[in-house]
Amino acid sequence: MAFIMSEIKPFKIRNIEINPPLVLSPMAGVTDISFRRLLKQRGGIGLTVSEFISVEGLTRNNPKSKRQMRFYENERPFAVQIFGAQPERMRMAAEMAEEVGADILDVNCGCPAPKVVKHGGGSGLLRDLPRLETILKEIKKAITIPLTIKIRAGYSDSTINAVETAKLAEACGVEHIALHVSGSGDITTIQQAFDRFRETNCDGVLIGRGGMANPWIFRQIEDTINGRRPFQPTLEDKRAVLLEYFDMLREDMPQLAAIGRMKQLAGQFTRGLQGGALFRTALYHSHSVDEILDRISEYFETISAGRQYFGEAGKPAEIIEAPELDSCEVGVGM
Ligand SMILES: Cc1cc2nc3c(=O)[nH]c(=O)nc-3n(C[C@H](O)[C@H](O)[C@H](O)COP(=O)(O)O)c2cc1C
Repeated sequence: MAFIMSEIKPFKIRNIEINPPLVLSPMAGVTDISFRRLLKQRGGIGLTVSEFISVEGLTRNNPKSKRQMRFYENERPFAVQIFGAQPERMRMAAEMAEEVGADILDVNCGCPAPKVVKHGGGSGLLRDLPRLETILKEIKKAITIPLTIKIRAGYSDSTINAVETAKLAEACGVEHIALHVSGSGDITTIQQAFDRFRETNCDGVLIGRGGMANPWIFRQIEDTINGRRPFQPTLEDKRAVLLEYFDMLREDMPQLAAIGRMKQLAGQFTRGLQGGALFRTALYHSHSVDEILDRISEYFETISAGRQYFGEAGKPAEIIEAPELDSCEVGVGM
């Protein structure tokens, strides 16, 4: 790894340094202001990105869309990602992002959710490049912050056009491109991040779900880049991260929604924990704030004492599988 470590450097999007070159990948329904803060505080993140935000919602004053643009000063550099298909609305939304102080404006050209694609947005833009060109030119005229795009290899396996799209985007003044496949996707270990850098020679890597399973993954990669032993969270760190997240969620949204988000994180976070499947099941069975807090205490007290965790007392140990968390679909209409 020594050779690779010395090769990995911060990169720039115009004058904005992405250091370390590790990006918390946008995830609708996940990477809201609380989640980004939680992960940013663990260290190692060079760029955060909002959830994708509907330009239709934003430009029609939908409160949810407005809330999605909030960010903390200390998470800079911060990118707002928008999705849509109408050039005029895309331009207006881009202006709004600049106005609230985003450092970068990112256009989503990768989401495959039918509800998004049906209206021509997300990866739908990859099959209408003239429209994409109009949108990018419109936005470029209206904003001064850097414009970036996030794409996938093609709209479908039979219409791979990432290179053509990238050339067009570059000609329109796009200053960085994230490609779901090469620079992002399925990185859950330090080694996989290094492999991705080596195999693709990309400027940086994006990590999404891996950050839910292991909020310290960015810091661990950064430690390794700098020749340090990667930080190893203790059980207490793991307990604290869950409690901190739950606190932030409850401050920011109604209890029921906060409990839902907590269960969503648990689906990923419990992977790899000792007795994790039983712990996840216990959390899924919880319906109130107190129940969630009790389950967290029970679990960590048990394993910290070196005892085996058998799940919720008095409940049959029938494991509930974590639902597959695989695309922007979950965020649509939330
Ligand atoms: C729940 C979920 C929501 C997502 N939402 C978005 C989104 O809003 N914008 C986007 O560009 N990509 C979105 N993606 C794709 C991710 O940014 C990322 O490219 C993908 O999950 C692969 O990376 P990973 O394996 O590290 O998670 C989403 C993925 C997931 C799982």
